[in-house]
Amino acid sequence: MCGIVGCVGRDDAQDVIIKGLKSLEYRGYDSAGIAMHNGDYINRTRAKGKLMNLEQKLAKDPLIGKNGIGHTRWATHGPPSEKNAHPHSIGGVSIVHNGIIENYLELRDQLKSMGLDIYSDTDSELIAHLVNIEVKKTGELASAVKNVIPQLEGAFAVLVLSEKHPDEMIAFTNGPPLLVGFAEESFIIASDLLAIMPYTNKVTYLSEGEIIYINKTNYKFFNNDLKEIQKNIETVDWSDELVEKSGYSHFMLKEIFEQPRSMAKSLEPYIDVDNHSITMPELEKHADFFKSVEQVYIIACGTSFYSGMVGEYLIEKIAGVSCKVDIASEFRYREPKLIKNSLVILISQSGETADTLAALRLAKEQGVKTMTLCNVQHSSMDRESDIQTYMNAGVEIGVASTKAFICSLSVLNVFSGFLAKVKGNFEKSEEEKLVKALLATPSHMESVLTYDKFFADAAERLKSYKGFLYMGRGVHFPIALEGALKLKELAYMHAEGYAAGEMKHGPLALIDEQMAVVMLAPQDDLYEKTISNLETAKARGGQVISIGTIQDKKLKELSINFLSLPEVDWNINPFLAVIPLQLLSFHVANALGHDVDQPRNLAKSVTVE
Ligand code: M6R
Repeated sequence: MCGIVGCVGRDDAQDVIIKGLKSLEYRGYDSAGIAMHNGDYINRTRAKGKLMNLEQKLAKDPLIGKNGIGHTRWATHGPPSEKNAHPHSIGGVSIVHNGIIENYLELRDQLKSMGLDIYSDTDSELIAHLVNIEVKKTGELASAVKNVIPQLEGAFAVLVLSEKHPDEMIAFTNGPPLLVGFAEESFIIASDLLAIMPYTNKVTYLSEGEIIYINKTNYKFFNNDLKEIQKNIETVDWSDELVEKSGYSHFMLKEIFEQPRSMAKSLEPYIDVDNHSITMPELEKHADFFKSVEQVYIIACGTSFYSGMVGEYLIEKIAGVSCKVDIASEFRYREPKLIKNSLVILISQSGETADTLAALRLAKEQGVKTMTLCNVQHSSMDRESDIQTYMNAGVEIGVASTKAFICSLSVLNVFSGFLAKVKGNFEKSEEEKLVKALLATPSHMESVLTYDKFFADAAERLKSYKGFLYMGRGVHFPIALEGALKLKELAYMHAEGYAAGEMKHGPLALIDEQMAVVMLAPQDDLYEKTISNLETAKARGGQVISIGTIQDKKLKELSINFLSLPEVDWNINPFLAVIPLQLLSFHVANALGHDVDQPRNLAKSVTVE
């Protein structure tokens, strides 16, 4: 889950690479480096810490050249340090690598037994050794790479520069994302479209086992056996403003405020506004299959898992179909027995999360139909699933997921209606009600965003609590879990999400005057029960911040702070209830002086186990 960028054939190659790495910093940010071929030699600069440290070094001592490779790292093998930073250069070969080489211990022993010195703690350096050995043997970059790939086990996307081959660059992938942008007489290769967007919208995505070889202005695609293959160049649609902060202090804050618009956009492809009906044409092609579905499994990680938990309520209540939700890293190792006529839904913003991808492959092995709900189109999951749906959230840069969560909820709502419809469980009036409620949600979300000021002001007080307990019932239980995850992730504070009814089975013991209790208590059919749970927490000294439906006097009396939400249907409440929790985490983390967009130890897409 590092970010890699390569550039061939541009006078401004160093700037292109650094700008590209900046846009990929969300993938890892504990060290960075760049290597440039100046026509005669490869020169390299690396720095521990954020990209800014590398930029400072380059400002004093820029690298020259038209071809280069760069890397921003999320440490797996070896701690963050300059020696472990990429590019790794051995002999005349420099490489950058995203992924994990699983047989690195054997390779390390093998290289050591050949008398070679290993300079870093990384698995990646070994690739540079292997390519260097093969370049010496074959004299050719492409043949060298062909001989190296079979020696590597695991997931890897690699860019290679060779001193002896000044006009050439080679890139290959065995899983992690890699795409090539075709600009005027130049090429940009990167882990994500974001690094390519400023230069061209003509791109090709490399699939597993594919290689691109570039020589000046010529290029060829190969498979692993170095047999030439043909690949299409796609024209992608985007707007630069998607990746700017647009006046906000942080990407996360911008993305929180974008949510009403993103939610509306996520619905666009799936709703016929004039007829207040659900239209999912791609899914309608499989109408017979959906009609026969008896069991739905939702599999995901982190925030996507919590949206899946909300999905479980939606699918069971709206479509009347049994639904189970699983954490991908558990699912893949517990020998799941998937029943026939079931559908496996994989939710993933990035579409690259290693555990969720493995779960998808496992479901396919068992012959079960898979459907993805991804944000990133052309991602590995998107490509490998049988049926695709999209969050349509736009680019999400903040490591903490916000708008992707909201957009997953909206697609899960629509999908539940779709399933209910094909199964004949949905009256036209129910469909209209669902669609109208969803269409009205963005403006309700706007009104909840005004709590930004409340949390900005309250953050100093909130940051002094020793911990936070988030509680909710029904669809608000996953929202409580999501609130706690956001606070842990951004503020590095102890936070737990609980089903409010479980309090008396243990967590009540945690409560005292130092503990903030965030109670989600909108007026739904579990309201009275939630209030009893709240009374219990308050009686133990818990400092209650409640989030409920407008003008709830009871809740107000019981709480030190009461935040009111507009009155909406049960399935719409999660869209509104999650916003104050996102704002709380953002402002507390900010007040603590943390890097909100790039929290410590994390990365946006987790492409390793
Ligand atoms: O890209 P994915 O949706 O598969 O990512 C899953 C999790 O890694 C992700 O949601 C993570 O929990 C977020 N950083 C939470 O804000």
